[in-house]
Amino acid sequence: MPSTSNNVAVHPDTTHLNLDSGGTTLQRRPLLRVTDLVAGYGDLAAVRGMNLELYAGEVVALLGPNGAGKTTTLLTLAGELPKISGEIHYQGKPLKGPLHRRVRRGFAFVPEERAVFMGMSVSDNLKVGGHTDRVLALFPELTPLLNRRAGLLSGGEQQMVTVGRALALKPKVLLVDELSVGLAPLVVDRLLDAVRAAAQEDGTAVLLVEQQARRALRVADRWYLLRRGVLAGSGPADDTDALWESYVS
Ligand SMILES: Nc1ncnc2c1ncn2[C@@H]1O[C@H](COP(=O)(O)OP(=O)(O)OP(=O)(O)O)[C@@H](O)[C@H]1O
Ligand SMILES: [Mg+2]
Repeated sequence: MPSTSNNVAVHPDTTHLNLDSGGTTLQRRPLLRVTDLVAGYGDLAAVRGMNLELYAGEVVALLGPNGAGKTTTLLTLAGELPKISGEIHYQGKPLKGPLHRRVRRGFAFVPEERAVFMGMSVSDNLKVGGHTDRVLALFPELTPLLNRRAGLLSGGEQQMVTVGRALALKPKVLLVDELSVGLAPLVVDRLLDAVRAAAQEDGTAVLLVEQQARRALRVADRWYLLRRGVLAGSGPADDTDALWESYVS
């Protein structure tokens, strides 16, 4: 469980606050709104009828078993995979274009496979992102490794480079796919805490794909459960009864 009060916290990005007609109450508008999304590969719709909202400053876990469609969803939101049908709105407007254009609009994407340049030094890997100082402030253990070839780092250190580079952009939307794969629990917690802090301190909206539901829920505000390409439930992170029920039913 995060230390903040889940869901009720008013996020720091007031540009997404809408006054109602009377101007007396504040209503939040989602940063990202997914409506009736169908996504997949050619004719194969791996995700069907998905509806999802992501608000600034929150961490949302997208959970589900192998093959549920988690990566497909993230690739589609990141602009790496064209959607089959449905709508994706970002800041109230249709979201279009490939990943690099979405990055310019405030997206960061940590893919399932580790996206480090194995043949380059850690230092050069960080220069690609452009905020080496920020990454080293987040993960100081990378400092003595700056001249080492990234391919020689441990899995955890490589993931610090990848996650650090994404967080250093101070993105508005962070899409993270299975950062825990093959890593020791302590390292995973460290990375997840850094992601949580980005939501809290920078107002980043995080969509966190994880198979390890309990690990993700420790830092998440809400969850969605995907099963065989369809959303099977959603709820606040402190209401996991509904999650486990949906998991087994
Ligand atoms: N390139 C592809 N071409 C065709 N089908 C694919 C492709 N990639 C994934 N699929 C299929 O799409 C479905 C959803 O896969 P996806 O990778 O999104 O699942 P996932 O929830 O991320 O699973 P995991 O937890 O194993 O990473 C699966 O049935 C998978 O076999
Ligand atoms: Mg996946």
